[in-house]
Amino acid sequence: MSKLKSLVREAIEEIKPYVPGKPIEEVERELGITNVIKLASNENPLGPSPEAVEAMRNMAEKVHMYPDGNCYYLKRRLASMFGLTKNNFIIGNGSDEILKLIAETFIKEGDEAIIANPTFSEYTFATQLMGGKCVYVDLKDFRYDLPAMADRITDRTKLIFVCNPNNPTGTIVTASEVEDFMRRVPEEVIVVFDEAYWEYVTSEDYPDTLEYVKKGKKNVIILRTFSKVYGLAGLRIGYGMANSELIEWINRAREPFNVNSIAQAAALAALEDQVHVRKSININNESKEWLYRKLEEIGLSYVPTEANFMLINVKHDSRQVFQKLLERGVIVRTGDIFGLDQYIRVTIGTLNQNERFIEALQEVLKELEQ
Ligand SMILES: Cc1ncc(COP(=O)(O)O)c(C=O)c1O
Repeated sequence: MSKLKSLVREAIEEIKPYVPGKPIEEVERELGITNVIKLASNENPLGPSPEAVEAMRNMAEKVHMYPDGNCYYLKRRLASMFGLTKNNFIIGNGSDEILKLIAETFIKEGDEAIIANPTFSEYTFATQLMGGKCVYVDLKDFRYDLPAMADRITDRTKLIFVCNPNNPTGTIVTASEVEDFMRRVPEEVIVVFDEAYWEYVTSEDYPDTLEYVKKGKKNVIILRTFSKVYGLAGLRIGYGMANSELIEWINRAREPFNVNSIAQAAALAALEDQVHVRKSININNESKEWLYRKLEEIGLSYVPTEANFMLINVKHDSRQVFQKLLERGVIVRTGDIFGLDQYIRVTIGTLNQNERFIEALQEVLKELEQ
């Protein structure tokens, strides 16, 4: 082991392995229980659109052929949806892949990336992988502190990541905050707006970052995904939007067939089924309000969310609460991985799933208070 370690790149040594949400099958196997629900990875509880499933079935018969490495039809559809051109798009094996491609394209050893704390862990992963330095800026009242992030820009700053809505808090930065921030960002710094949850946002103050791509004055990359409201997380498909020059450079780091044909077909069909998207958003909104009410009844505080997950202050060690919820067949995320020891992050489920979660949570808290 130690001999092998000497062969490993220093950057790899520094990387902490990603902790994913526990899969249902693993919990059922380990605890010998059934009927487990997973509210841990911010997936769409309704699943994919039936039209996407049909498209997957049809494409399954053609998987002996390589996929379209250029994702032509998907780019064309997205371009017409957002008023851009195909050259403004990169499609990835999940937006995770695009994050990694961005770092591979731009981060040189010693370059800095400004990253909020806590936020989505892949920004750290991608930066560290390339030997970059992560410059962390704490959230303020669970929200991104963009002025403080701008204060940390130096000559070494290459990338700034803005997760909006932020994972794990569900909070957003507003249009005027982004405007003020962008005024302070030098032209040679690239800002990545990760908008994985943008479809769920209800606030009128949410920024229209596409304007930066359209104007092409700043180096902005917007990341979005089919893993959340479109319910296609298992297929791994997401997209990035930026000025065509940025896209061209990132494309050089991309594997030629990075997005499989089933994912491309499903994403295209899913885009056509906006009824399913609307239904998913409506259920999320109803469920969110229901959860707010229940938590207030129980006397637990939470962070109001613009996404399909929320942070709840459980007033006890989050690992203990997590474990006891697990034993009752409910998988959530512990807050300690985000430095929030008394919080859990819960995906907003269907009304039935939320009922099960609240019931289990009440039991757990009662047990811990005895
Ligand atoms: C903020 C954020 N960005 C990106 C992703 C990854 O999305 P994808 O499944 O497209 O890789 C996630 C997934 O949880 C996320 O929370």
